Amino acid sequence: HLGRLSDALLGNALAAQRTGIVGGVIMSTVAVIGAQWGDEGKGKVVDYLAERARFVVRYQGGNNAGHTLVVNGEKTILHLVPSGILVDGVTNVVGDGTVIDPWVLLGELEGLEARGAMRAPESGQLVIGRRAAIVAPYHVALDKAREQRLGKGKIGTTGRGIGPAYEDVAARRAIRVADLLDRERLSTRLDRVLDEKNALLSWLQVETFEKEDLIERLMAVGARLAPWIDDAGKRVRQGIADGHDVVFEGAQGAMLDVLHGTYPYVTSSQTTTGGIASGAGTHPRQLDAVVGVVKAYTTRVGAGPFPTELHDHFGQSLREKGQEFGSTTGRPRRCGWLDISQLRYAHQLNGFTSLALTKLDVLTGLESIQICVGYLVDGERWDIMPTDSDLMDRAEPITIELAGWDEDVREASTFDELPENAKAYINRIQSELGVPVGLISVGPGRHETIRHQDLWATA
Ligand code: IMP
Repeated sequence: HLGRLSDALLGNALAAQRTGIVGGVIMSTVAVIGAQWGDEGKGKVVDYLAERARFVVRYQGGNNAGHTLVVNGEKTILHLVPSGILVDGVTNVVGDGTVIDPWVLLGELEGLEARGAMRAPESGQLVIGRRAAIVAPYHVALDKAREQRLGKGKIGTTGRGIGPAYEDVAARRAIRVADLLDRERLSTRLDRVLDEKNALLSWLQVETFEKEDLIERLMAVGARLAPWIDDAGKRVRQGIADGHDVVFEGAQGAMLDVLHGTYPYVTSSQTTTGGIASGAGTHPRQLDAVVGVVKAYTTRVGAGPFPTELHDHFGQSLREKGQEFGSTTGRPRRCGWLDISQLRYAHQLNGFTSLALTKLDVLTGLESIQICVGYLVDGERWDIMPTDSDLMDRAEPITIELAGWDEDVREASTFDELPENAKAYINRIQSELGVPVGLISVGPGRHETIRHQDLWATA
């Protein structure tokens, strides 16, 4: 920011605009990234940051995500609509790197409309990217049939067709949002893809799809979404050039990244900061701050390695107290202790400038709390989680024990008001990772939030 400021002081308007100072005001972009396996509480953090932002941008994933907001006691679960939707004046962008089930998106918008939360399309409240790929009914059918076929070896996907939809993006045969606005083009696109899908679905012994019926359904839903469909990348780039504050809303978590996560037990998109520029249509140098959202313990849905998982009553009590059931599928989440070595890896992948620690209240009442600080693999110490599955199978967590607390933390509004042992827990996380904790969430409500440091601050 100092560099940017000196540009502005030199009076170089062009340079100033290029570097993000408009009218002497420094704009910022901030990414909100899940630091674990998803379900860290990103929605609440985005909702909080949206107070200042003009844009909230989803850049990857689809309705495998479930972001929960609690405002004035009312719960809203969003799957595709960005989490800034309840904040006045925010443009919410479903970016080109997402995959969109158009019926799910429409259902979400209708739900919001019924609650009076949607403004007229001309208000700019929502932009649906023209280039985003559609999750079609055959993707959902394929996802479910493949998982069933894998039996015990299944990934444990959300069954929303996400993987098959991303496959089609890479294979250059996706139906994209803009195709829903042009019957002829949609028909041509379906010709390229449907026979193959139906052959595969028949082989998997599940329902197949009829072209004309799909065209009718896709055109109908496209017509409903049309008022919001636009060039998402251009809108975001223009927003940045105009000096607006932007939040990039991550979905899932770092350990579910298709390249760097616990492959093959991952999702099919890039969940780390690396995916932002390509998914949103911006460039990497336009990212100023990165908030890593860390749940005060660890959860994971679906199969795959989870070294600090608790199979005993501790795990059960975390699940019940934290209401750890999937907001998309309702599946019980696997629960375990916080894993610092996993978070160190997530930090290396994302470059966190601050952390948002969520669900601290769930740990209240535990006599002691364990955290994992490394692993032993074949007698060798690893400070950073190895994600290769053969190493993970043999990784034994090294844990340390910290004292718990009994005092209610939900009423605390400053860091100092927290119990000493809770402060020690937070300080330990900060010092182990070398990243400041900027926000602490002590309950689901919007107001149950301790602001400790500025999340918009750059490193
Ligand atoms: P998919 O994204 O539906 O293909 O699922 C792949 C893996 O990612 C499974 O283990 C899912 O449980 C997990 N997953 C996908 N989205 C989320 C999420 O938003 N939160 C937590 N886990 C997720």
